[in-house]
Amino acid sequence: MVEMVSGCYGRMGMIHLRSEPQVECFTRWWGWWPGWCYYVDEWVNERRGGDGGKLHGRDACAVGYWKVSGDGVLENGSVRIAIISDIHGNMVALNAVLTEIDREEGIEGIICLGDIIGYGPDPIDCVDTVIERCDWSLMGNHDFGVVYEPTNFNPGAAAAAFWTRAQFEAEGDMALRKKRLDFLMGLRVRVKFGPDDSFLAVHGSPRRPINEYIFPDDAINASLKIQQIFERVDRFAVVGHSHVPGVFTDEPDFYDPIELKEHFTFQEGEKCIINVGSVGQPRDGDPRASYVILEDGGVTFKRVGYEIDPVAEKIRAVPELNDWLADRLYEGR
Ligand SMILES: [Fe+2]
Repeated sequence: MVEMVSGCYGRMGMIHLRSEPQVECFTRWWGWWPGWCYYVDEWVNERRGGDGGKLHGRDACAVGYWKVSGDGVLENGSVRIAIISDIHGNMVALNAVLTEIDREEGIEGIICLGDIIGYGPDPIDCVDTVIERCDWSLMGNHDFGVVYEPTNFNPGAAAAAFWTRAQFEAEGDMALRKKRLDFLMGLRVRVKFGPDDSFLAVHGSPRRPINEYIFPDDAINASLKIQQIFERVDRFAVVGHSHVPGVFTDEPDFYDPIELKEHFTFQEGEKCIINVGSVGQPRDGDPRASYVILEDGGVTFKRVGYEIDPVAEKIRAVPELNDWLADRLYEGR
């Protein structure tokens, strides 16, 4: 069943978890249009209330109440939150990360920056675990691709998205199926949190929250792009999407976690964008799962090894999931 949504940017198809032929038709029809991803970002953002929704109620409590000193530097060492992203249906990696987070002292919340599903063999378990363990999550392009439209996906990624959609469709318990769908379709794309809302959380970039990549090379090769992105950042932003962890500053510059010795201290008057890396499919040459601990004054990059073999075997057992998706886990790329 395909339900057309009117009043938005053109012919967006809202899909109730059925890979009907029309849906693939939309993908082909829109796929050539370079501006399409921009409209996806803005369309979803509009549906989430313009700014993607500020924290309220339970969300606000989840990240505590940070104090800010007169010069704007965070103080009060009591608040620590874990930020994960890009799980991509890799339940073994997610379990390894959550086990490590549980061992950390004083973690007051866990937030997820999206791409819970897509590519990996355990999408249902990952969604159920994020619902249970995370205070909130954002919508990534793959979450969007599964429940709405696999926009600008290559054939392998689109096949993985349709297979993932079929896993949710196969759920016989209608209440459970609805719960998962409601969760995925209700994910926000832009959330502000922390003291004075000084942290912006998006999956891709502050400019195009679902689909735009910020690559380390952009700090050197695309300074105008970085400048325009930083114009949309009040002080700090946390992102995923590229699967490459590190810190962008508004100099502009990029610092990888090795260079930083795994810790970055916030500097007065300096804006920064923190990429937390990927739990389920790292692409920085290190196959270990990546996440960060955000606390007053700085951010610490974490890596956790996990057993890749069972994940790779599951991927290879599914014809719709390309074997390359298994191979790349070993190489971290
Ligand atoms: Fe991703």
